[in-house]
Amino acid sequence: MKEAVIIENKAIGADFFLISLKWLPARSVRPGQFVMLRVTGSMDPLLRRPFSVYNVEGDTVELLYKVVGKGTTILSSLNPGDAVDLLGPLGRGFPVPGVVPGKGRLLMVAGGVGIAPFYHLGRSLDCGSLLIYGARTKADTVVVKPFSNIGVKSKVSTEDGTRGARGLVTDLLVREMRCGDTVYACGPSPMLKAVAKLAEEKGIRCLVSLERAMACGIGVCLGCAVKTVAHRPGRVVEDDRAYQMVCSDGPVFDSRDVDWDLL
Ligand SMILES: Cc1cc2nc3c(=O)[nH]c(=O)nc-3n(C[C@H](O)[C@H](O)[C@H](O)COP(=O)(O)OP(=O)(O)OC[C@H]3O[C@@H](n4cnc5c(N)ncnc54)[C@H](O)[C@@H]3O)c2cc1C
Ligand code: FES
Repeated sequence: MKEAVIIENKAIGADFFLISLKWLPARSVRPGQFVMLRVTGSMDPLLRRPFSVYNVEGDTVELLYKVVGKGTTILSSLNPGDAVDLLGPLGRGFPVPGVVPGKGRLLMVAGGVGIAPFYHLGRSLDCGSLLIYGARTKADTVVVKPFSNIGVKSKVSTEDGTRGARGLVTDLLVREMRCGDTVYACGPSPMLKAVAKLAEEKGIRCLVSLERAMACGIGVCLGCAVKTVAHRPGRVVEDDRAYQMVCSDGPVFDSRDVDWDLL
Protein backbone atom coordinates (compact mmCIF):
# COMPACT_ATOMS: atom_id res chain seq x y z
CA MET A 1 0.00 0.00 0.00
CA LYS A 2 1.40 3.38 -0.97
CA GLU A 3 0.00 6.79 -0.21
CA ALA A 4 -0.50 9.17 -3.10
CA VAL A 5 -1.29 12.85 -2.77
CA ILE A 6 -3.59 14.62 -5.20
CA ILE A 7 -1.98 17.48 -7.11
CA GLU A 8 -4.94 18.22 -9.36
CA ASN A 9 -8.33 16.64 -10.02
CA LYS A 10 -10.06 18.41 -12.86
CA ALA A 11 -13.20 17.85 -14.89
CA ILE A 12 -12.53 17.55 -18.60
CA GLY A 13 -15.94 17.36 -20.16
CA ALA A 14 -19.12 15.58 -19.20
CA ASP A 15 -18.38 12.83 -16.64
CA PHE A 16 -14.62 12.67 -17.31
CA PHE A 17 -11.87 13.68 -14.90
CA LEU A 18 -8.09 13.72 -14.99
CA ILE A 19 -6.43 13.26 -11.63
CA SER A 20 -2.71 13.88 -11.05
CA LEU A 21 -1.15 12.17 -8.06
CA LYS A 22 2.27 12.42 -6.53
CA TRP A 23 3.24 8.80 -6.02
CA LEU A 24 6.73 7.44 -5.48
CA PRO A 25 6.44 4.26 -7.64
CA ALA A 26 5.23 6.32 -10.64
CA ARG A 27 8.44 5.88 -12.65
CA SER A 28 8.12 2.09 -12.60
CA VAL A 29 4.72 2.03 -14.37
CA ARG A 30 4.83 0.32 -17.76
CA PRO A 31 2.24 1.10 -20.46
CA GLY A 32 -1.03 -0.78 -19.95
CA GLN A 33 -0.48 -1.42 -16.26
CA PHE A 34 -3.05 -0.28 -13.73
CA VAL A 35 -3.42 0.79 -10.12
CA MET A 36 -6.00 -0.09 -7.48
CA LEU A 37 -7.19 3.10 -5.81
CA ARG A 38 -9.06 3.32 -2.52
CA VAL A 39 -11.10 6.49 -2.57
CA THR A 40 -11.67 6.88 1.16
CA GLY A 41 -10.15 5.86 4.46
CA SER A 42 -13.55 4.48 5.49
CA MET A 43 -15.19 1.12 4.76
CA ASP A 44 -17.55 2.54 2.14
CA PRO A 45 -16.89 1.77 -0.60
CA LEU A 46 -14.86 -1.10 0.79
CA LEU A 47 -12.99 -2.16 -2.31
CA ARG A 48 -10.33 -0.37 -4.27
CA ARG A 49 -11.16 0.53 -7.86
CA PRO A 50 -8.88 -0.33 -10.83
CA PHE A 51 -7.68 2.42 -13.18
CA SER A 52 -5.21 2.34 -16.06
CA VAL A 53 -2.31 4.73 -15.83
CA TYR A 54 -2.86 7.46 -18.40
CA ASN A 55 0.46 9.27 -18.09
CA VAL A 56 3.62 9.40 -16.02
CA GLU A 57 5.71 12.52 -15.40
CA GLY A 58 8.58 11.92 -12.96
CA ASP A 59 7.00 10.87 -9.68
CA THR A 60 3.50 11.87 -10.80
CA VAL A 61 0.87 9.59 -12.32
CA GLU A 62 -2.21 10.77 -14.15
CA LEU A 63 -5.41 8.73 -14.28
CA LEU A 64 -8.25 9.46 -16.67
CA TYR A 65 -11.58 8.34 -15.26
CA LYS A 66 -15.25 8.41 -16.02
CA VAL A 67 -17.76 8.91 -13.21
CA VAL A 68 -20.03 5.86 -13.31
CA GLY A 69 -20.86 5.02 -9.68
CA LYS A 70 -20.16 5.52 -6.02
CA GLY A 71 -16.37 5.20 -6.02
CA THR A 72 -15.75 7.46 -8.99
CA THR A 73 -18.29 10.02 -7.69
CA ILE A 74 -16.38 10.24 -4.40
CA LEU A 75 -13.09 10.39 -6.31
CA SER A 76 -14.34 13.32 -8.37
CA SER A 77 -15.05 15.29 -5.18
CA LEU A 78 -11.50 15.02 -3.80
CA ASN A 79 -9.23 18.05 -3.76
CA PRO A 80 -5.53 18.86 -4.15
CA GLY A 81 -3.69 17.87 -0.97
CA ASP A 82 -6.07 14.98 -0.20
CA ALA A 83 -4.42 11.56 0.08
CA VAL A 84 -5.61 8.27 -1.42
CA ASP A 85 -4.02 4.87 -1.26
CA LEU A 86 -2.74 3.36 -4.47
CA LEU A 87 -1.71 -0.24 -4.96
CA GLY A 88 0.49 -0.86 -7.96
CA PRO A 89 1.70 -0.76 -10.58
CA LEU A 90 -0.22 -3.96 -11.30
CA GLY A 91 -0.72 -6.45 -14.10
CA ARG A 92 1.01 -7.16 -17.35
CA GLY A 93 0.63 -4.27 -19.74
CA PHE A 94 1.21 -3.83 -23.45
CA PRO A 95 4.64 -4.79 -24.81
CA VAL A 96 6.36 -1.72 -26.27
CA PRO A 97 7.34 -2.64 -29.83
CA GLY A 98 10.56 -1.24 -31.24
CA VAL A 99 11.17 -0.25 -34.84
CA VAL A 100 11.30 -3.33 -37.05
CA PRO A 101 12.22 -2.53 -40.68
CA GLY A 102 9.48 -3.69 -43.04
CA LYS A 103 7.05 -4.20 -40.18
CA GLY A 104 3.66 -2.52 -40.21
CA ARG A 105 2.23 0.04 -37.82
CA LEU A 106 0.90 -0.35 -34.33
CA LEU A 107 -2.83 0.38 -34.47
CA MET A 108 -4.16 1.40 -31.05
CA VAL A 109 -7.93 0.93 -31.00
CA ALA A 110 -9.76 2.65 -28.14
CA GLY A 111 -13.42 2.88 -27.17
CA GLY A 112 -14.56 5.64 -24.78
CA VAL A 113 -12.46 5.79 -21.62
CA GLY A 114 -10.51 2.83 -23.06
CA ILE A 115 -8.20 5.50 -24.47
CA ALA A 116 -6.61 5.73 -21.00
CA PRO A 117 -3.63 3.35 -21.40
CA PHE A 118 -2.66 4.57 -24.86
CA TYR A 119 -1.16 7.96 -23.99
CA HIS A 120 1.57 6.45 -21.82
CA LEU A 121 2.10 3.77 -24.47
CA GLY A 122 2.19 6.36 -27.28
CA ARG A 123 4.91 8.30 -25.45
CA SER A 124 7.02 5.14 -25.23
CA LEU A 125 6.82 4.25 -28.94
CA ASP A 126 9.34 4.87 -31.65
CA CYS A 127 7.58 2.80 -34.32
CA GLY A 128 4.86 3.95 -36.74
CA SER A 129 1.51 4.11 -34.98
CA LEU A 130 -2.07 5.23 -35.35
CA LEU A 131 -4.74 5.76 -32.71
CA ILE A 132 -8.23 4.76 -33.84
CA TYR A 133 -10.66 6.15 -31.33
CA GLY A 134 -14.40 5.56 -31.21
CA ALA A 135 -17.34 6.40 -28.99
CA ARG A 136 -21.12 6.59 -29.14
CA THR A 137 -21.25 10.36 -29.35
CA LYS A 138 -18.99 13.42 -29.03
CA ALA A 139 -19.64 13.72 -25.27
CA ASP A 140 -18.19 10.23 -24.78
CA THR A 141 -14.90 11.13 -26.47
CA VAL A 142 -12.19 12.53 -24.30
CA VAL A 143 -8.93 13.88 -25.63
CA VAL A 144 -6.96 15.47 -22.85
CA LYS A 145 -3.67 15.96 -24.60
CA PRO A 146 -3.39 15.75 -28.38
CA PHE A 147 -1.73 12.52 -29.44
CA SER A 148 -0.12 14.45 -32.32
CA ASN A 149 2.12 16.09 -29.67
CA ILE A 150 3.68 12.70 -28.99
CA GLY A 151 3.99 11.72 -32.65
CA VAL A 152 0.89 9.52 -32.82
CA LYS A 153 -1.60 10.19 -35.61
CA SER A 154 -5.24 9.65 -34.75
CA LYS A 155 -8.60 9.03 -36.40
CA VAL A 156 -11.89 9.41 -34.57
CA SER A 157 -15.36 8.00 -35.16
CA THR A 158 -18.66 8.37 -33.34
CA GLU A 159 -21.75 6.29 -33.90
CA ASP A 160 -23.87 9.41 -34.47
CA GLY A 161 -21.25 11.32 -36.46
CA THR A 162 -20.98 14.20 -33.94
CA ARG A 163 -17.19 13.84 -33.90
CA GLY A 164 -15.04 12.41 -36.68
CA ALA A 165 -16.40 9.82 -39.09
CA ARG A 166 -19.88 8.44 -38.54
CA GLY A 167 -19.91 4.75 -37.62
CA LEU A 168 -18.18 2.19 -35.46
CA VAL A 169 -14.51 2.18 -34.59
CA THR A 170 -14.27 -1.15 -36.41
CA ASP A 171 -15.36 0.59 -39.64
CA LEU A 172 -12.25 2.77 -39.38
CA LEU A 173 -10.09 -0.17 -38.35
CA VAL A 174 -11.07 -2.29 -41.32
CA ARG A 175 -9.98 0.53 -43.65
CA GLU A 176 -6.64 0.96 -41.89
CA MET A 177 -5.48 -2.62 -41.25
CA ARG A 178 -2.62 -3.79 -43.43
CA CYS A 179 -0.66 -7.01 -43.50
CA GLY A 180 2.14 -6.76 -40.90
CA ASP A 181 0.28 -4.33 -38.62
CA THR A 182 -0.32 -5.12 -34.96
CA VAL A 183 -3.49 -4.14 -33.12
CA TYR A 184 -3.72 -3.19 -29.44
CA ALA A 185 -7.27 -2.58 -28.20
CA CYS A 186 -8.91 -1.28 -25.02
CA GLY A 187 -12.59 -0.53 -24.49
CA PRO A 188 -15.95 -2.20 -23.89
CA SER A 189 -16.06 -5.99 -24.33
CA PRO A 190 -18.34 -5.98 -27.43
CA MET A 191 -15.85 -3.65 -29.16
CA LEU A 192 -12.92 -5.86 -28.17
CA LYS A 193 -14.73 -8.92 -29.45
CA ALA A 194 -15.40 -7.24 -32.83
CA VAL A 195 -11.79 -6.03 -33.09
CA ALA A 196 -10.46 -9.50 -32.24
CA LYS A 197 -12.67 -11.06 -34.92
CA LEU A 198 -11.48 -8.60 -37.58
CA ALA A 199 -7.84 -9.12 -36.66
CA GLU A 200 -8.22 -12.88 -36.79
CA GLU A 201 -9.88 -12.71 -40.22
CA LYS A 202 -6.96 -10.61 -41.52
CA GLY A 203 -4.31 -12.73 -39.77
CA ILE A 204 -3.14 -9.74 -37.74
CA ARG A 205 -1.75 -10.02 -34.22
CA CYS A 206 -4.10 -8.45 -31.70
CA LEU A 207 -3.68 -7.80 -27.98
CA VAL A 208 -6.66 -6.71 -25.91
CA SER A 209 -6.85 -5.09 -22.48
CA LEU A 210 -9.80 -6.70 -20.67
CA GLU A 211 -11.96 -5.10 -17.99
CA ARG A 212 -13.40 -7.09 -15.12
CA ALA A 213 -14.74 -6.07 -11.73
CA MET A 214 -11.81 -6.51 -9.35
CA ALA A 215 -11.63 -6.98 -5.61
CA CYS A 216 -7.97 -7.62 -4.74
CA GLY A 217 -6.12 -6.73 -7.97
CA ILE A 218 -3.29 -9.14 -7.15
CA GLY A 219 -4.51 -12.59 -8.19
CA VAL A 220 -5.73 -13.74 -4.77
CA CYS A 221 -9.54 -13.54 -4.71
CA LEU A 222 -10.11 -15.20 -8.15
CA GLY A 223 -12.91 -12.68 -8.71
CA CYS A 224 -11.70 -11.46 -12.10
CA ALA A 225 -11.25 -14.84 -13.79
CA VAL A 226 -11.79 -15.10 -17.54
CA LYS A 227 -12.00 -18.33 -19.43
CA THR A 228 -9.39 -18.77 -22.10
CA VAL A 229 -9.04 -21.25 -24.91
CA ALA A 230 -5.43 -22.01 -24.03
CA HIS A 231 -4.79 -24.70 -21.47
CA ARG A 232 -1.74 -23.93 -19.41
CA PRO A 233 -0.48 -26.23 -16.66
CA GLY A 234 -0.65 -24.82 -13.17
CA ARG A 235 -3.88 -22.91 -13.76
CA VAL A 236 -7.37 -23.54 -12.39
CA VAL A 237 -8.89 -25.64 -15.17
CA GLU A 238 -12.35 -26.86 -16.08
CA ASP A 239 -13.17 -28.93 -19.15
CA ASP A 240 -9.52 -28.71 -20.16
CA ARG A 241 -9.68 -24.94 -20.46
CA ALA A 242 -7.74 -22.50 -18.34
CA TYR A 243 -9.09 -19.64 -16.30
CA GLN A 244 -6.79 -16.68 -16.06
CA MET A 245 -6.94 -13.67 -13.81
CA VAL A 246 -7.39 -10.34 -15.55
CA CYS A 247 -5.54 -8.56 -12.73
CA SER A 248 -2.40 -10.68 -12.61
CA ASP A 249 -2.26 -12.64 -15.90
CA GLY A 250 -3.56 -9.58 -17.79
CA PRO A 251 -5.20 -7.17 -18.20
CA VAL A 252 -3.54 -7.52 -21.62
CA PHE A 253 -4.14 -10.82 -23.41
CA ASP A 254 -3.53 -12.17 -26.88
CA SER A 255 -7.01 -11.98 -28.44
CA ARG A 256 -6.67 -15.57 -29.68
CA ASP A 257 -6.40 -16.84 -26.11
CA VAL A 258 -9.70 -15.33 -24.96
CA ASP A 259 -12.89 -17.38 -25.06
CA TRP A 260 -15.04 -14.60 -26.53
CA ASP A 261 -18.22 -16.68 -26.36
CA LEU A 262 -18.03 -16.59 -22.58
CA LEU A 263 -17.00 -12.97 -22.09
C1 LIG B 1 -7.78 -3.05 -15.54
C2 LIG B 1 -8.85 -1.98 -15.50
C3 LIG B 1 -8.53 -0.69 -15.87
C4 LIG B 1 -9.50 0.31 -15.82
N1 LIG B 1 -9.14 1.56 -16.19
C5 LIG B 1 -10.04 2.56 -16.14
C6 LIG B 1 -9.67 3.88 -16.49
O1 LIG B 1 -8.52 4.16 -16.85
N2 LIG B 1 -10.63 4.84 -16.40
C7 LIG B 1 -11.92 4.57 -16.00
O2 LIG B 1 -12.75 5.48 -15.94
N3 LIG B 1 -12.29 3.32 -15.67
C8 LIG B 1 -11.38 2.32 -15.72
N4 LIG B 1 -11.75 1.05 -15.35
C9 LIG B 1 -13.13 0.84 -14.89
C10 LIG B 1 -13.24 1.34 -13.44
O3 LIG B 1 -12.51 0.48 -12.60
C11 LIG B 1 -14.71 1.37 -13.02
O4 LIG B 1 -15.39 2.32 -13.79
C12 LIG B 1 -14.83 1.74 -11.55
O5 LIG B 1 -14.34 0.67 -10.76
C13 LIG B 1 -16.27 2.04 -11.20
O6 LIG B 1 -16.31 2.28 -9.81
P1 LIG B 1 -17.57 3.00 -9.15
O7 LIG B 1 -17.50 2.72 -7.70
O8 LIG B 1 -17.64 4.42 -9.58
O9 LIG B 1 -18.77 2.28 -9.83
P2 LIG B 1 -19.64 1.10 -9.18
O10 LIG B 1 -20.48 1.68 -8.08
O11 LIG B 1 -18.74 -0.05 -8.86
O12 LIG B 1 -20.54 0.76 -10.41
C14 LIG B 1 -21.58 1.67 -10.77
C15 LIG B 1 -22.20 1.26 -12.04
O13 LIG B 1 -21.26 1.46 -13.10
C16 LIG B 1 -21.10 0.28 -13.81
N5 LIG B 1 -19.71 0.22 -14.23
C17 LIG B 1 -18.68 -0.28 -13.53
N6 LIG B 1 -17.58 -0.21 -14.26
C18 LIG B 1 -17.93 0.35 -15.44
C19 LIG B 1 -17.26 0.68 -16.61
N7 LIG B 1 -15.97 0.43 -16.76
N8 LIG B 1 -17.95 1.26 -17.63
C20 LIG B 1 -19.24 1.52 -17.51
N9 LIG B 1 -19.94 1.21 -16.43
C21 LIG B 1 -19.30 0.63 -15.42
C22 LIG B 1 -21.45 -0.84 -12.86
O14 LIG B 1 -21.88 -1.99 -13.58
C23 LIG B 1 -22.58 -0.21 -12.10
O15 LIG B 1 -23.80 -0.33 -12.79
C24 LIG B 1 -10.82 0.02 -15.40
C25 LIG B 1 -11.15 -1.29 -15.04
C26 LIG B 1 -10.18 -2.28 -15.09
C27 LIG B 1 -10.53 -3.68 -14.69
S1 FES C 1 -9.19 -9.13 -8.57
FE1 FES C 1 -8.72 -10.69 -7.16
S2 FES C 1 -7.89 -12.23 -8.45
FE2 FES C 1 -8.14 -10.55 -9.78
